[in-house]
Amino acid sequence: MANYLVTGGAGFIGTNFVRHLLEHTDDHVTIVDKMTYAARPESVDGLDPQRVTFVQGDVCDAALMDRLVAAADVVVHFAAESHNDNSLSDPSPFVQTNVVGTYTLLEAVRRHDVRYHHISTDEVYGDLELDDPEKFTATTPYNPSSPYSATKAGSDLLVRAWVRSFGVRATLSNCSNNYGPFQHIEKFIPRQITNVIDGVRPKLYGAGLNVRDWIHVDDHNAAVLRIIEDGRMGETYLIGADGEKDNKTVVETILRLMGEPVDAYDHVNDRAGHDLRYAIDATALRDELGWRPRFTSFEDGLADTIAWYRDNEAWWRPIKAATEAKYAATGQ
Ligand code: NAD
Ligand code: DAU
Repeated sequence: MANYLVTGGAGFIGTNFVRHLLEHTDDHVTIVDKMTYAARPESVDGLDPQRVTFVQGDVCDAALMDRLVAAADVVVHFAAESHNDNSLSDPSPFVQTNVVGTYTLLEAVRRHDVRYHHISTDEVYGDLELDDPEKFTATTPYNPSSPYSATKAGSDLLVRAWVRSFGVRATLSNCSNNYGPFQHIEKFIPRQITNVIDGVRPKLYGAGLNVRDWIHVDDHNAAVLRIIEDGRMGETYLIGADGEKDNKTVVETILRLMGEPVDAYDHVNDRAGHDLRYAIDATALRDELGWRPRFTSFEDGLADTIAWYRDNEAWWRPIKAATEAKYAATGQ
């Protein structure tokens, strides 16, 4: 039995990862989460108290990280400021949490020689043209566009340096866009689902031609567990499920699945510096670790996700008005 320390375990992917661990292993989990605006307390309520310990805390708190890491066998670092639009209005928490927080954890795992897995994003590679036949691989040069992706790129490079210079036992993964239950409604898919539930027209940035490579959060987390179990030390694995879709198609699919006319949406102001397209080549993960996505139909995964937001209105309703008010201020 291993003791996991999961940072950001009250956020979207983190809470799904904790649930995945509880289902698929006998391990114990300590969640550390600052409980920023992005966390919902309900996402950690009701987890088995015999197997899950919750600590409210900041990954930049060196004394706390030292104590928690010393008691762990594996650290999985999800905690981050994660939303591009927020990084355009105020980059400072992104630099603090994503860069300084990762540095703080790396120093702790170095001191205590604890296995570390770093969760990152495909956005570190910048964007692709719509007709580019190449996809991102682990050797694609870093070229981040936004304050968010630049801080994630910085955090990845810190991990690589700590592996090479100090022999830290770490792996990294860079995943494409996740969807599924427990995702904050500031993000594209849950924002539009909850808008439709509220009788509000979905909002598409610009022309809606930007492409994202969608993966169900459970498939992401299954891949992370495979990497922790059998990944090679120091290695970067790209996680993606061949789920490229342009935003217009995603909005139209949500509307159709929710029984609304497919053209019942509005175009709004585009995002500054908006990345055009992401696409992941996950061949290494598939060939080396035998990982395969379970959600091969985006429409089925989306239908499950719509059902989750319909069934769990109490989870998102308290933050809906404030989330939309923030967007209204930027004409989005
Ligand atoms: P999220 O915003 O839903 O959750 C982030 C969590 O981190 C929240 O619970 C928040 O309270 C916590 N947190 C923030 N600052 C903290 C701090 N200083 N100390 C402790 N906890 C803090 O994010 P998410 O979408 O679940 O993303 C998780 C990770 O996965 C991030 O590292 C992100 O870069 C990466 N990622 C996300 C996606 C995606 O599509 N969402 C894709 C690839 C990679
Ligand atoms: O690629 C992985 C990244 O995916 C993660 O690293 C980030 O943490 C995660 O937030 C996500 O980033 P994106 O910026 O791609 O996700 P977002 O949900 O904000 O937007 C997805 C696309 O939808 C993007 O092209 C912008 C567009 N969009 C977004 C919103 C919120 C809209 O058209 N309308 C909207 O209302």
